[in-house]
Amino acid sequence: MRRKVIAGNWKMNMTPSQAVKLVTELRPNVNNPDVDVVFCVPSIDIVPVVEAVKGSNIHIGAENVYYQEKGAFTGELSPEMLVDAGVSHVIIGHSERRMYFNESNTVLNLKMHKVLEHGIIPILCCGETLEQREKGITLDFVKEQIVEAYVTKEQVLHTIVAYEPIWAIGTGKVATTAQAQEVCGFIRTVFEELYDKETADQIRILYGGSVNASNAAELFAQPDIDGGLVGGASLKPDFADIVNYNK
Ligand code: 13P
Repeated sequence: MRRKVIAGNWKMNMTPSQAVKLVTELRPNVNNPDVDVVFCVPSIDIVPVVEAVKGSNIHIGAENVYYQEKGAFTGELSPEMLVDAGVSHVIIGHSERRMYFNESNTVLNLKMHKVLEHGIIPILCCGETLEQREKGITLDFVKEQIVEAYVTKEQVLHTIVAYEPIWAIGTGKVATTAQAQEVCGFIRTVFEELYDKETADQIRILYGGSVNASNAAELFAQPDIDGGLVGGASLKPDFADIVNYNK
């Protein structure tokens, strides 16, 4: 049985003081024994938030990372810096980074390998545009994103995938459970082709895109959906209702 992961992606929201206030309010309410809870937060919030969640079950993630160890890369953060600050997870290849910062599958592959070398769990995002869905090329496109970004058989079980259809992000337009399950189930078959069935059965695949407290239980009950990557609804104390979706 795969453990659920429910991760918040705060994107470019929450000043350090707002961030500490939110996690302090949330920490007593997100103790679901069936769920790994992760907050992926802006870089400047990492240090104070790690301090504020000490002793709780909350893991802190970053929203981005660079694939070099150190050096003249102004503005970037290395995996070593993230680990030293207390980060355990990092989002790799969110559609907003692919779209606004031109991140390619090739660069994402370098990032995947580098963070795994440092023991950080990557949450690799994939997902199609509305245009691609309407053209009927969703599965081919998602497969390419997975295959090109992925890692070795030794490393794969330390990774998480998030399927986030771009047309469902921040739009309130959630994919139907059938649409979300179809692609998450397909991603599992891609892992079976790349590695083997036993490996594919263990990888956690999340759905993201307008997840909220009303649709979480139905989405997370699907056989291939192992939790969610939550944007807007992770910025409020009600996020606890999503974490407690099965209570
Ligand atoms: P929303 O939950 O706001 O649609 O955002 C989803 C997302 O992009 C999480 O990474």
